[in-house]
Amino acid sequence: MKELMQVITSLPELRKIRSHLAEPVGLVPTMGYLHEGHLSLIRKARQECASVIVSIFVNPTQFAPNEDLRRYPRDLAHDLQLLKQERVDIVWNPSPEIMYPTGYQTWVTVEELTQTLEGKMRPTHFRGVTTVVSKLFNATQPQRAYFGQKDAQQALVVRRMTQDLNFPIEIIVCPTQREADGLAMSSRNVYLNPAERQAATVLSRALFRAQGAYEQGERNAQTLRDLMLSVLKTEPLANVQYVSCAKIEDLREWEGKIQGTALLSLAVFVGQTHLIDNVVVGGSL
Ligand code: PAJ
Repeated sequence: MKELMQVITSLPELRKIRSHLAEPVGLVPTMGYLHEGHLSLIRKARQECASVIVSIFVNPTQFAPNEDLRRYPRDLAHDLQLLKQERVDIVWNPSPEIMYPTGYQTWVTVEELTQTLEGKMRPTHFRGVTTVVSKLFNATQPQRAYFGQKDAQQALVVRRMTQDLNFPIEIIVCPTQREADGLAMSSRNVYLNPAERQAATVLSRALFRAQGAYEQGERNAQTLRDLMLSVLKTEPLANVQYVSCAKIEDLREWEGKIQGTALLSLAVFVGQTHLIDNVVVGGSL
């Protein structure tokens, strides 16, 4: 009979249990407050892997001092209930003291891919992500790790890091899960009041408008960026950070005509809440 899900908070214990797990092992890194987006990654891992580890760790180093670390939503009891239903084998739930011991000073950085888009807006964010993801990889030794397209730049940065550091791990990117009205699911959506929640649909409407134009044959990158912007401007509660039509290889803006795969992405403040979303045209991640 299959053993019950184990919730682990100590590294020696994790290492011991990991050494007995059936392989391939799939890892799904999360910051908890799980929704259907997270669960879609976990279900894919469950289909493809003999053992599934889900990590829950709200990683302080990927939040800037002015960001929402303290109020980031948490509900471990509910998360564990959901993970049990998904037949997860191990939940790795370390404390900040284990992940960042006193005197901590070691970082993993991916240099160029983190200079644009979210990395430009949040200069220390990806250094925190790549550092914590390397530590999660090192602790859990998965053969496969699952990430969401919702955070497309994160997935590409993690894939670059995995290749550069020769981690023997396959990075699998899964489609963005959306609410019925198009809003990409996100733990941060709970911050939105009813008016903001309604306004937040403008992100996917802008992306789908540009995607539709691409499908009708539009290839001019600036035209696609302008189209997204024109939709975003119709929403008074939306404060646009950026709209982008970037090359998938280096996340630099396409100039003139798109000639390969493009990541259409945007970042918008709706009230105090920072929301991001994207679609890929002419290929996939
Ligand atoms: P978190 O925001 O909790 O997301 C965990 C994973 O779920 C990420 O790979 C993210 O892209 C994916 N995800 C979130 N919303 C999704 C949606 N609507 N559809 C599909 N996938 C979705 O991303 C992080 O945590 C952290 O940066 C982490 C990688 C855990 C490092 O701390």
